[in-house]
Amino acid sequence: MSRTTFIASILCAGVLGGLGAYLARQSALDSLVAQNTVLQQRLQQAQADRQAALAKAAGNDLEMENLRQDSLALAVLREQLKTNAPSLDSPPGFFTDSNHLVYLSYTTPDPVLRSFLRWVMGGSGDAKSKGRAIFQKICAACHQQDGAGKDGVAPPLADSEWVQAASGERLVRIVLNGLNGPIQVRGKTWNIVMPPWRDNLSDEEIAIVLNYIRAQWGGQGAAPIKPEVAAAARQESHPKPETSEELLRISVP
Ligand code: HEC
Repeated sequence: MSRTTFIASILCAGVLGGLGAYLARQSALDSLVAQNTVLQQRLQQAQADRQAALAKAAGNDLEMENLRQDSLALAVLREQLKTNAPSLDSPPGFFTDSNHLVYLSYTTPDPVLRSFLRWVMGGSGDAKSKGRAIFQKICAACHQQDGAGKDGVAPPLADSEWVQAASGERLVRIVLNGLNGPIQVRGKTWNIVMPPWRDNLSDEEIAIVLNYIRAQWGGQGAAPIKPEVAAAARQESHPKPETSEELLRISVP
């Protein structure tokens, strides 16, 4: 091999090698760009889902107010229905109007009246249905109706170790103050923001919705959460959402 051919072949190999490396790099780059586009689309979708859920949960203020009015009206009605019988020997019952004109016995044979009485006295005003109503109006927008959560929006409540933990204080604080920063739920790390609900829910409503969630999704063994826990936590000002690190410092008996 002459010296010139030798140099030429080295150059050629260099160029070809360079070209090969260039092409390989280019295709790696293309696939990275493609992956990035997919990731970005997913991220945008998750952000859109989250925005929609946030708007839905926040827009339910009016419905919450209606729910409060309904249960208030039911409570008043229930009190009225307990109105005393005209005399000791009249059958247990109540006056249907304030003028004491029509007296209705609880044992009325009328099936429609009986079913109406059952509806007023039981069912729709109890803690469980109130808990369900609050859950559906606020929490389900993000945590989903079945409590299974949704990627990019909110972690699951179903079988969540946070929902099952014995003391209710961590849960109460999450709802009162919101939650921010990384949190582990069932082995997966989430890092989104849950807004605070202290201005939208009373202490009693917080206890009711949390007890409902526990009854539904794996916290059945835990003692019921009392409104007093929420009232006490509300006293502390907490300008920023809670973090899981902060919450884990609260010991669970
Ligand atoms: C706007 C969406 C949104 C709404 C509405 C919402 N949450 Fe959350 N929630 C989240 C997000 C997001 C997290 C995780 C926050 C993080 O990553 O730090 C979370 C975390 C939690 C956790 C702890 C983690 C787990 O999954 O067990 C509980 C408990 C919880 N939320 C309960 C509730 C309850 C109860 C309500 C209704 C009163 C509610 N949330 C309403 C978005 C929401």
